[in-house]
Amino acid sequence: MTVFSATEMQARKSSIVCKRLSGFPATISAAIELPYLLAATKSSLSTATDLSTLSAFSLFEYVSSIRQRTSTASRIAPEIIKVRIQADSPAVLMELEQAIRDRRSVRAFEDRDMPHELIDKALELASWAPSAGNLQSRDFIVVRSAETREALASAAGGQDFVAQAPVVIVAIANLERVMHYGKRGRDLYAIQDSAAAVQNLLLILHSKGLATTWVGAFNESQVSQILGLPGHARPVAILPIGYPAETPAPRDHLPFGEYVHDEKW
Ligand SMILES: Cc1cc2nc3c(=O)[nH]c(=O)nc-3n(C[C@H](O)[C@H](O)[C@H](O)COP(=O)(O)O)c2cc1C
Repeated sequence: MTVFSATEMQARKSSIVCKRLSGFPATISAAIELPYLLAATKSSLSTATDLSTLSAFSLFEYVSSIRQRTSTASRIAPEIIKVRIQADSPAVLMELEQAIRDRRSVRAFEDRDMPHELIDKALELASWAPSAGNLQSRDFIVVRSAETREALASAAGGQDFVAQAPVVIVAIANLERVMHYGKRGRDLYAIQDSAAAVQNLLLILHSKGLATTWVGAFNESQVSQILGLPGHARPVAILPIGYPAETPAPRDHLPFGEYVHDEKW
């Protein structure tokens, strides 16, 4: 176990920690004063991820994402961060391919809330998904009220994990915004716009150490009534979000040749 004091961190300019964080199989335990880890990650890991806006908050996310890949839990205090890392692959920072492969539908959540900023940031990033005519024909409702979460769980046929999650996001196809494209816009584009944004959300949340499941089995009119949706707003997906309390194994996948066709069907 290696513990770096703040002074040591400053002296070493964090190079050892950075090297290990960014890639070498190693076990590190470090008690690091926040500013030094910030400096460290900024200087050495900027090629692996965009850390230009690194702040105490994003450091929290960063450590959470490391947590997902580590065998030992990290503990984060307001000013002092203690990270115990079992680096097991060349890239500790979650990259896109890794995020896509590792994401799982999670249906059990820890009993703790998450920063509002994290949800807002995920929703902001979700809005960068492509959309037909760039009309961005999808909206999101963020639900925190226990009563509403329970009502949504019931409208989803009693999928109780919907109520268990501290935050539930409902993705809504906005049929008014896509009006320009007529029936195809309403029947297809608004749904596709919503789905693309939802997939963004799943990946972003996962990369930040959060988990969710895309819940599509629900009674639409009940959900519309619970959320007070106008006629032009169609609920598409319910996403219960929280810190994962389970680690599901990957599901079976079709063999490549079964879903990829050469030239013609
Ligand atoms: C359109 C859609 C609807 C889904 N509806 C539900 C649902 O109602 N309840 C549920 O538990 N999971 C639901 N899922 C999650 C799938 O069961 C899950 O994505 C699939 O089994 C693959 O597992 P993975 O996400 O862990 O890779 C849905 C997924 C999609 C894309």
